[in-house]
Amino acid sequence: MAASNAYQASFPLHVAIIMDGNGRWAQARHRPRVFGHQEGVKTVRRIVEDAADLGVQHLTLYSFSTENWTRPKAEIAALFNLLKKYVEDDLDTLNRNNVRIRILGSREGLKPDLRELIRRVEMTTEGNTEFNLNIAFNYGGRDEILRAAAKAVADGKDLSSMKHTELTPYLDTADLPEPDLVIRTSGEKRISNFLLWQAAYAEFVFTDVLWPDFKKEDLLSAISDFQNRDRRFGNLNASEVA
Ligand code: IPE
Ligand code: IPE
Ligand code: MG
Repeated sequence: MAASNAYQASFPLHVAIIMDGNGRWAQARHRPRVFGHQEGVKTVRRIVEDAADLGVQHLTLYSFSTENWTRPKAEIAALFNLLKKYVEDDLDTLNRNNVRIRILGSREGLKPDLRELIRRVEMTTEGNTEFNLNIAFNYGGRDEILRAAAKAVADGKDLSSMKHTELTPYLDTADLPEPDLVIRTSGEKRISNFLLWQAAYAEFVFTDVLWPDFKKEDLLSAISDFQNRDRRFGNLNASEVA
């Protein structure tokens, strides 16, 4: 066995994906950006199944950021409709497959019918245990941290004496493990306000593949990349300890 250590990355139980490149995928085909988003939903369907097949327990997908509100109104409306349609169309199947769905992000600025849908989806799947699908929608890491701090203060916590672990229960991801692996498609190499707090020690894999083209083999390749990483969490390898 190699000079391995306790931190050698094993299997990523929580994979988070910044699904990027829908617009460029469509533009390359001289189609409107929304066409790329529609194709992106097909990838979501496939990758949810693939991730579950591979043994991933948590899949977190970044589908609309707090900064995406700056996009044209028509594109925002299309993204909202696609989320609604995906959830409405797939809820029964996901529920039958024992998938628990959580929607991360702020509820602020969402219309009552969407809030109601989110509530219904989360409640319907609350008892499911086979796989966890977390959709980051109207999500921003900075916004989440501020909301968490505000909730902690409202709960009587004193921020000046709090340990960082005490903030965890107030995050949108309160009952989730931290992501082991964050994948970003489309060649961009930035975090774009995704899981800022939770990804403190995540491994990152960046791929040039555009989200609509992302396949099971790309997920597998990211996972095997992850498995060759040496996660140290600030510590030393066993082999480095004198
Ligand atoms: C990702 O694709 C989907 C969202 C951000 C909502 P983009 O729409 O960002 O596609 P590109 O980056 O313009 O190609
Ligand atoms: C990040 O992609 C947000 C989502 C995938 C939902 P963006 O396309 O919005 O990110 P930037 O603007 O390129 O950083
Ligand atoms: Mg983008």
